[in-house]
Amino acid sequence: MFNFYSSRMVFFLWVFSWVFSWVNAAIRRYQAWKYLLYGREMIREKAAIAGDAPFSLPVFGFGGRMHIVSTAEHWDDLKKAHVGHLSMHYWVKEIFQPKYTLIDEWHDNRDEIGMPVVRAIRTITSRLFRHAPTIMRVFERELRVKIQAYPTSEDYYKVALADMAKWAMVKVNTLIILGEDTANDPEFITRGFAYTKEMSMIGEIVRIVPAFFAPIVASVVKKRNLNQRYVLDTMMRLVEKRRDATNGLTKEALPEAETILEALADQGPELSTREVVHHINIFWTTTTHSTGLVSVQFIKDIYTHTSLIPALLEEIEAAPSTPPTSTTANDCLMEGVLMESMRLHCFQSTAIHRKAISPFTFSDGYTIPAGQSVQFYQERVHLDENRYGQSTTFDPRRYKGSSRSVTDVGMEWPFWGAGRNACPGRFIFSYSVKIFASFLLKNYDCELPTPRKNWTWGENSIPDSRNLLLMRPKNVEKYHN
Ligand code: HEM
Repeated sequence: MFNFYSSRMVFFLWVFSWVFSWVNAAIRRYQAWKYLLYGREMIREKAAIAGDAPFSLPVFGFGGRMHIVSTAEHWDDLKKAHVGHLSMHYWVKEIFQPKYTLIDEWHDNRDEIGMPVVRAIRTITSRLFRHAPTIMRVFERELRVKIQAYPTSEDYYKVALADMAKWAMVKVNTLIILGEDTANDPEFITRGFAYTKEMSMIGEIVRIVPAFFAPIVASVVKKRNLNQRYVLDTMMRLVEKRRDATNGLTKEALPEAETILEALADQGPELSTREVVHHINIFWTTTTHSTGLVSVQFIKDIYTHTSLIPALLEEIEAAPSTPPTSTTANDCLMEGVLMESMRLHCFQSTAIHRKAISPFTFSDGYTIPAGQSVQFYQERVHLDENRYGQSTTFDPRRYKGSSRSVTDVGMEWPFWGAGRNACPGRFIFSYSVKIFASFLLKNYDCELPTPRKNWTWGENSIPDSRNLLLMRPKNVEKYHN
């Protein structure tokens, strides 16, 4: 009797736990889907309830969960965490799925791969001002032609803002990383653009579909992988060219590197040609993606706050070089506009993205299990009324009297990350995007008649590609005098 009832009970419990685990999995899957469509809003809602406490959300990939922290103590813990414990590269791998998108594999840990790249970027950053005339040349020759190819209405070109701004920034990124010849190779730019799109598309889909589908998805999107191959072949040719030209020379006798690729290739035989291409490929693709998004938002913000344009023009006309050389928002309005654009419309609402290689416990006892992700909620800092009075107002003059700048790093300005992983390319980005904006302001009268709302994907806020910028050339002679 007892056995009969107890075996029924066991059976009942088994069915119950089976149903429960399926319902639970279905709810998590539903929430992960919901996160893809409304993630930014979901984070906002959860953060409002959680206050200072960490919280988590179900997501696709990342061991199924993303944890979010937001206090100064959490920031310090993240900053101090060893890169072999909480890894940024492991996180980026999950986003871009190099196993399916790239031809070769990718380490999890920055210490193994990062420092030579960071050194090469710093070398070129220290000579950034020399690049200004070349960047201007790209805009004056090619951006003009690009703009003229858009349809016209009366005396305006009807320019697809996102397409134009991303194209301009791909050019500049390519110029600084790979050199002017490559930036002027239309096939490289077209294929490079397509390749970065393929990468992000595969990365997103692979996290959602069952594992056995991933290689199929990748091969359908990449087709014969001609875009990536063209990009990699170009990079390989450039590294070999530099190494042939410098072969046998001592460090002192090396001709100065003009590009990040050359600076990396010069760092000695410990990096093989293939490894140099590997690193350059990773950060050319990832940065092309982010510089595009942030610059589209910046240009959109300039032309939705038209009352700022006369003062911006005055500042540009008065500057001895392009862009205005001051790098603090105290004495550079353009800097303040870029900061407000990033503060209010940061394309990701979180920063310091890490994946736990082993369980990580914060000083308040909150633990991130191995394989899951953790990030810092930067939107909370950006909209904090104690830091920014009337925090939702776009006010680039709020930084007057401060030494704040776009390239600041720290909890007050989390955008570029923390500690040893903080973005080394931030000076290049901020410099080149200001040259881009100065070029547009000086040379074109622009209007953004009906700015469209951004759409969101996960925590990302993405400017609508249907935004049209009406552009009419100004007096070109005046600019050249
Ligand atoms: C708007 C454009 C950009 C954004 C939003 C951006 C953002 C970031 C962020 C958030 C990090 C990680 C920091 C952390 O998690 O602690 C990072 C790292 C990095 N960024 Fe950028 N970045 C941009 C442009 C660039 C450019 C133009 C370059 C190079 C020319 C660059 C090179 C790098 C590299 C190499 C790292 C890895 C550093 C390491 O391994 O320690 N970035 N970036």
